[in-house]
Amino acid sequence: MSTPRPLAVVTGASSGIGAATARRLSTEGFHVVCAARRADRVEALAADIDGTAVVCDVTDADSVAALAERVAELGAETGQTGLAVLVNNAGGAFGSAPVARADADQWRAMYEVNVIGLMQVTRALLPALVASGAGVICNVGSTAGRIAYEGGAGYTAAKHGTQVVTETLRLELFDQPVRVCEVAPGMVRTDEFALVRFDGDQAAADAVYAGVAEPLVAEDVADAIAYVVTRPPHVNIDELVLRPRAQAAQHKVHRVHD
Ligand SMILES: NC(=O)c1ccc[n+]([C@@H]2O[C@H](COP(=O)([O-])OP(=O)(O)OC[C@H]3O[C@@H](n4cnc5c(N)ncnc54)[C@H](OP(=O)(O)O)[C@@H]3O)[C@@H](O)[C@H]2O)c1
Repeated sequence: MSTPRPLAVVTGASSGIGAATARRLSTEGFHVVCAARRADRVEALAADIDGTAVVCDVTDADSVAALAERVAELGAETGQTGLAVLVNNAGGAFGSAPVARADADQWRAMYEVNVIGLMQVTRALLPALVASGAGVICNVGSTAGRIAYEGGAGYTAAKHGTQVVTETLRLELFDQPVRVCEVAPGMVRTDEFALVRFDGDQAAADAVYAGVAEPLVAEDVADAIAYVVTRPPHVNIDELVLRPRAQAAQHKVHRVHD
């Protein structure tokens, strides 16, 4: 019998960075559990990479419990103990109003998905990560979790949350066989991130990347995540910040206009 592929869970696997990460981890030899709310997307991806699709809303505790149950079943089916990798990628930005005109519901939604969702998935899967004997959690943060920018407070507050929860968890798990890491990208051109932020306004979404010849793409971030999670079990990459060369800082972006 062939050796079972170690299990990896990727949340937000239905698009962008999550989908690219699921594909990449599959090529690295993992059986990837692709989790997100859109069933058609995760099912197509899982079929393509011989993984498992789980429809999951990370903000819903029952949905997350069902994800953990599916992971336990897969472990039993393949005869392996625990979960090797968790990539907490589900997240996003909603709106860009200044604080003076902020929408409280959008702020709540950002906190729900980027912080509480990450906590719920981590809490539910931690026993399986510990049981594996060499688990690794990779949280997808952002450079927005390190700086401030006008119109970004709801998102930067949430992503600072992602960052500080990651740090806290690393302290709390210091004597456990689980690494706790964060990959924090700058500008990544994905199909949906900016479109979701600007509520479907394609022109506003395109303006984010205007004149930037080479923003990061989802595969660049997937590459960083793959690096972080495939280090030997004693090596913890606390945080890996990556940006396109054209983005020296949040406010210093090289744009070339015709
Ligand atoms: N693009 C950037 O410039 C950038 C930069 C730094 C960090 N990031 C971070 O990278 C991550 C991925 O971003 P992306 O650019 O790939 O954006 P994206 O294409 O919009 O992907 C977001 C993913 O999260 C999933 N998701 C959203 N809410 C969810 C929920 N409640 N439960 C489960 N899944 C949920 C979405 O799937 P469903 O809608 O199907 O659930 C989707 O697969 C996010 O955490 C984002 O904050 C992005």
